[in-house]
Amino acid sequence: MAKVLVTPALPYANGAIHLGHLVEHVQVNVFVRALRMAGDEVLCVCGADSHGAPIEIAALKAGKAPERHAADIAAGHAASFARYLCDYDGGYGTTHSELNRQHAERIYLALKAQGHITRREVEQLQDPTDGRWLADRFVKGTCPKCQAKDQYGDSCEVCGSTYRATELIDPKSVITGATPRLAKSEHIFVKLGDFADRLRAFLAHEGVLHASQRHFLERWFEEGLKDWDVSRDGPYFGFNIPGEGNKFFYVWLDAPIGYVSLTEHATAGAWQAWWRDPKVAIHHFIGKDILYFHTLFWPAMLMATGDTLPSAVHVHGMLTVNGTKMSKSRGTFLNADDFAEVCEPQALRYYYAAKLGAEPDDIDLSFEDFVNRVNADLVNNVVNLVSRTVPQLHKVAGGRPAPLDERDPVVVAARARLAEVPALYRALDFAAAVRTVVEVGSVANKLLQDTAPWDVARTDPERARHILTTALWVGKSCLALLKPVVPALVEKLEGMLKVAPFTFDNALAPLSPDVAIGDYVRLFERLDLKKVQSVVKPTEPAPAPLAPAKGDQKKADHKKAPPVEAPPPAEIGIDEFLKVELRAAKVVSATAVEGSDKLIAVKLDVGPLGTRDIFAGLRPHVTPDALVGRTVVVVANLAPRKMKFGTSYGMMLAAGDVPVPLSAEGATPGDRIR
Ligand code: MSP
Ligand code: ZN
Repeated sequence: MAKVLVTPALPYANGAIHLGHLVEHVQVNVFVRALRMAGDEVLCVCGADSHGAPIEIAALKAGKAPERHAADIAAGHAASFARYLCDYDGGYGTTHSELNRQHAERIYLALKAQGHITRREVEQLQDPTDGRWLADRFVKGTCPKCQAKDQYGDSCEVCGSTYRATELIDPKSVITGATPRLAKSEHIFVKLGDFADRLRAFLAHEGVLHASQRHFLERWFEEGLKDWDVSRDGPYFGFNIPGEGNKFFYVWLDAPIGYVSLTEHATAGAWQAWWRDPKVAIHHFIGKDILYFHTLFWPAMLMATGDTLPSAVHVHGMLTVNGTKMSKSRGTFLNADDFAEVCEPQALRYYYAAKLGAEPDDIDLSFEDFVNRVNADLVNNVVNLVSRTVPQLHKVAGGRPAPLDERDPVVVAARARLAEVPALYRALDFAAAVRTVVEVGSVANKLLQDTAPWDVARTDPERARHILTTALWVGKSCLALLKPVVPALVEKLEGMLKVAPFTFDNALAPLSPDVAIGDYVRLFERLDLKKVQSVVKPTEPAPAPLAPAKGDQKKADHKKAPPVEAPPPAEIGIDEFLKVELRAAKVVSATAVEGSDKLIAVKLDVGPLGTRDIFAGLRPHVTPDALVGRTVVVVANLAPRKMKFGTSYGMMLAAGDVPVPLSAEGATPGDRIR
């Protein structure tokens, strides 16, 4: 029996859980549930990452002490995760704990005792009024690249460029509004380079890191590992560095140490049984953005204390919603709780699992695809095998299944395919696990369609009972194997069938002919696209001119610019794009329009859509004859436009100053172009 410690990254306590976080937590939870169903001993810990400047700023805005604010936010995280059936051993914790302070000190002192600590002066912005050192997020000013006002000290939300806080034009402290000064202070560094060889060797181990991530590491090693600045001068929300007066650990030092202190909390002190036992496999799950911390800083800290290094750092992709990055102004920065109001959380678990393969690709949550997949594959397929058979089995056999016919080809094939599923979960190829289950479910649904046991029941109830038993067994086995993904649904099924909780050992067991199954209870509701879409509530940003109009210059200078959201970039979602129906069309005829020096009347063959008459303004550049016979691109769903010479039913696309009609040569007239 394997012993496995699993962790997601610790979410910052400066905001609510969103659907991006959930990609990771669903991945972790499905993995953990699958390992437990396989009989492994698994510990899974998580909690809020509670220290650092952004959290302090959020607390300031909320008018609360940072401890209080972080604790409130963490309580919100815990509630959100519980709704999505993601739970953690010892409960959802925090890095702001006495245990975490002790482990941070232990690890820091080990680094120091071994000579891996150095110190040197750092030049930084400081608030002259209260002496506070201003982290990038504590300074706002005018972007040095695009002159946008009110930008943070690390990057500009308008033009996207990054810079140093010292480069901001007219910088101000976000707390006091004072103009910061440049000053020097001594910082403490970990000499990461001391660990370079050991880190390289560790990361080269089979399975530690997915191949797709290796090149990042190679680049970092080539550039040379820089000393890591681990101190911040107070005031700072974090742990005091022992023996250093007003210096505090930078949040990223004690954050991963939270993995250890949360283990200690969850096991009532037995952290060494998980972090000092080489037989334990430690699996961290992270997003691409925090790779450096987990593959370099964190293992170096573990090396200093001799604690167990991770067996694997699993990297997942980032979530996009309907094809674009989650955006506050477009309303697609979706909060986990808001989403749970419009759809059952297990549906999202199912969708994420269906999309999470072993490759760390980005994941798109497209609402239409989401609703279709859940309804078609889960509700109408796998769950359907139960809802169609259970009431019938009550009718024909008092709810008693027949003995399972192990020679039935449907049973033989299902057993063979479903046997692969546990290993797919272990390999983190949830997409393949779900796909396998869905394919097996389809075969049994086809059996139901083809044999119609409800009709057979009238003449041959015993045969009907056999067919129903086979289909129910397939449905039950499929759902048993989906238990890591949709655990609450499957627990309902266990109750209905009166079977012991499913494990990977008993998942494919036949139903006992001696036990009458219970009455049918609804397992899952179909999703409604409209309802899901209603979660998006775009906040129209006030139209803010990038540069004030000339006459307004004076006024604008005097008025403090209100904190406006960055104007949305001129990008559209895939859904919006797909509203434009581009199709291939063949030019049947083209004639110059009498009385116009621009227009050509074109008749297009748009395949199944019939023929279309359009006017193209190409006359000065193209002769009508040259168009005939060509396959071009037409906007097929443009509202008809009345023009002087008639009505145009579409638009032919052309490019360039001297317009050249776009070619769709090779496509069949009527083909959709996307
Ligand atoms: N507090 C740090 C982690 C410390 S771990 C010792 C942090 N917090 S976070 O809240 O910003 O992110 C937590 C995790 O969520 C990270 O692994 C991050 O990659 C992941 N995600 C945040 N936004 C995400 C998406 N849009 N999509 C997928 N995962 C995302 O980083
Ligand atoms: Zn800018």
